[in-house]
Amino acid sequence: MLTAENQKPKSFTGILLHLHPQSIKEDALVFNRTFGLGGMAALLVVIQFITGIMLRFYYEPFPQKAYDSILHLQNNVLFGQLIRNIHHWCGVFLVIIAFLHLLRVFFTGGFQSSRKVNWIIGIALLILIVFLNFTGYLLPWDQLAYWAVTVGTSLLNYFPVIGESIRQFVLAGDEVNANTLIIFYNFHTAVLPILLLLLMAYHFWRVRKAGGIFLSNSNENKEIVPTYPNLVYKEFIVALVLIAVVLVFSVFLNAPLLAKANPDVSLNPTKAPWYFAGIQELLLHFHPFIAAFLIPLTIIFLLTVLPFINFKEEPSGFWFHSENAKQAAKFTAVASSVITVILIIINEFIPDFEILLPWLNPFISNGIIPLAILLFILWLFYKFVSKKFNLSYLEVVQSMFVFITTSFIILTLIGIFFRGVDMELTFPWNL
Ligand code: HEM
Ligand code: HEM
Repeated sequence: MLTAENQKPKSFTGILLHLHPQSIKEDALVFNRTFGLGGMAALLVVIQFITGIMLRFYYEPFPQKAYDSILHLQNNVLFGQLIRNIHHWCGVFLVIIAFLHLLRVFFTGGFQSSRKVNWIIGIALLILIVFLNFTGYLLPWDQLAYWAVTVGTSLLNYFPVIGESIRQFVLAGDEVNANTLIIFYNFHTAVLPILLLLLMAYHFWRVRKAGGIFLSNSNENKEIVPTYPNLVYKEFIVALVLIAVVLVFSVFLNAPLLAKANPDVSLNPTKAPWYFAGIQELLLHFHPFIAAFLIPLTIIFLLTVLPFINFKEEPSGFWFHSENAKQAAKFTAVASSVITVILIIINEFIPDFEILLPWLNPFISNGIIPLAILLFILWLFYKFVSKKFNLSYLEVVQSMFVFITTSFIILTLIGIFFRGVDMELTFPWNL
């Protein structure tokens, strides 16, 4: 029970209690409501700041020196390799955890009413995290960094009209060069971290302002419990497990470092950083305008307007709203994986529409036609799943979101693990 005694913050938890209210609803403590993902993302950001500042002591952002400074850090500095590995793995985990946190907020309905703005702040946070990873990717100045950033920024070329100018502006030239490195370095170690900190602080404040995580009014349990020790202990355990996982990865798996960057010798395959692998995979199947511009921007747009859709019902605060919707989500995830893999295999063995219909403009044969087929499949699935599981509007939207997310994850995995020389399909052990 809540008493004046256990309400009083103990000294070492004082700081944590500035982030939390003194007491919270008991329901909010149920671990699988949030899986602690927001807190994990916050911890990873803190680790990135600490290790990033350490790396800054040795790193030199000039093409003649950057690569050697990393070698020096790895070979001659006590724990240098470990610190670099931690920074590398936390960068990877942060993208995954922030993305999973987005999914959890979406599927438990935490993006509606008073949480609308925080959802949009969250999207901005995710974009910032991707930019931080991307700008960091170039810094080691090895072949991997140089060519991944070359391919990553070349995606901008496919933006209509201004794409080429934006790419030249970002690179400060026609290709990745010394100026690009210094610009990326300044964005990576100053501009973007400051923006991230400010947005994160605002994000936390809004969570507090909304009264904590979303719990539906219909919740039975109205019990209030003190935050310390109930929540703080749980957070502590999650933090310890996360730190253990990061350490295991960082001790056993070194951050990659190939030969020093050489603009004259490209890698084959030249892959974009892993979080863009899904888009790079799409480029193999669609006209670039559709793959690198229309589809990604439409997804970002749909995510942004999501809280403003009128679903006519309040979400339950539990995963997937109802038992029916949960079954539909499982079915959809399997169906989407199978459909995506089948489409990729068909595209591998049957020539593109561009070859089959050479008299058509490629934008139509390789763009409009495959896009129309894709939309048709989505529409068929939408009709099928809503009827089979008798879903409400909110539940159908959730199901379609599962479809698109699963498909995107499969595309990303295929891009990372199943594309070899000349981006041909291959098995991971042949890479
Ligand atoms: C959320 C925040 C951050 C993310 C996601 C991030 C991500 C990354 C990534 C992916 C790399 C390339 C690592 C590799 O594979 O070699 C990198 C490198 C680097 N980062 Fe960060 N970083 C973050 C914050 C910071 C901060 C705040 C600083 C310094 C103030 C910093 C300094 C550096 C330096 C000096 C390198 C080059 C060393 C190297 O590549 O190992 N980072 N970062
Ligand atoms: C650096 C990245 C992020 C950090 C550190 C962070 C942190 C947090 C924390 C600690 C919470 C409360 C507890 C929890 O849900 O675990 C939360 C809630 C929330 N986050 Fe994030 N978040 C991040 C990214 C995102 C993203 C990518 C989105 C979605 C686009 C998002 C949207 C939200 C929303 C809407 C809530 C309120 C949810 C509810 O009331 O149930 N956040 N965030």
